[in-house]
Amino acid sequence: MGKQYLGLPIIPADTAFGLMADFDADTHPNKVSLIAGAYRDASGNPWILPSVRKAKEAIGESTLEVAEPNDVVILQTCAHNPTGVDLSNPQWMKILDLVQRKKLFVVFDSAYQGFATGDVNEDAWAVRLFTEEILASGSHPGLCVAQSFSKNFGLYGERVGALHLIVPRHLSAQGAQSELMAIARAEYSNPPRPGAVIVETILGDQRLKAQWETDLNTMSSRIKEMRHELRWKLEKETQQDWSYIENQIGMFSSTGLTSQQVSRLRDEFHVYLLPSGRLSVCGLTERNVQYVAHAICQVMNT
Ligand SMILES: Cc1ncc(COP(=O)(O)O)c(C=O)c1O
Repeated sequence: MGKQYLGLPIIPADTAFGLMADFDADTHPNKVSLIAGAYRDASGNPWILPSVRKAKEAIGESTLEVAEPNDVVILQTCAHNPTGVDLSNPQWMKILDLVQRKKLFVVFDSAYQGFATGDVNEDAWAVRLFTEEILASGSHPGLCVAQSFSKNFGLYGERVGALHLIVPRHLSAQGAQSELMAIARAEYSNPPRPGAVIVETILGDQRLKAQWETDLNTMSSRIKEMRHELRWKLEKETQQDWSYIENQIGMFSSTGLTSQQVSRLRDEFHVYLLPSGRLSVCGLTERNVQYVAHAICQVMNT
């Protein structure tokens, strides 16, 4: 054993953690872990208590309740990254009501327009609602939309986007624009042109725009198909309910896999996802979905 940094001795591993590691390494098909004091349902899976789920919703709302006028609230418009869980229309209306009541300044983060429903207009529903209502109110500080075209134009290397500032009708946007230009000048001076020209060309040409809308549908439909396939393959192998995989929206799924299970997926099956358990459905294909489903089942059950 070499000399230890700062002379720190190697202390014995925590008993429970050591046992858990032994359990993970054990390949016996009938192995049972009675170590951790974490509740599991009848199928042996972690259980999100309905009361906790509801409390989380309430906390989300009460966080906004304590906000002060002009506080900035960042809201993802659709196909939420990383959860794949979007607000319903009635929930958006509730947030709008709160935002108006408390005079909060909303910044919409729109990075996946077209990936939720496959329809760009449908996916902008919340942005339109907020814009119309906030402008109509006449007394609200406005809002902002940070729109990325990286994903919905597949321009990952160009990172094209647009910042929309929606200003109350009775006020001029000139001052705000000059401020934004000064920030841009300091941050990046001038953006590269090529990606922006591609987006401009497509959105400015009816036929290309229609083609792009079809392309978006191609992407979102394939993602939905893969969600469906993964769900059914997992259900077939585990006899458990995996409907949430299909019900989640957009590119990402929060699988609930632990970082240990994610490591095993990588080490034993060469399947890579983020340690948080976030899975990008885009990486699934007809050819690998069965393999991935099987790998997930293996790391969950053995
Ligand atoms: C929610 C969200 N907003 C913004 C971005 C980044 O957008 P851009 O590629 O335009 O920097 C991402 C991912 O890259 C994202 O997931």
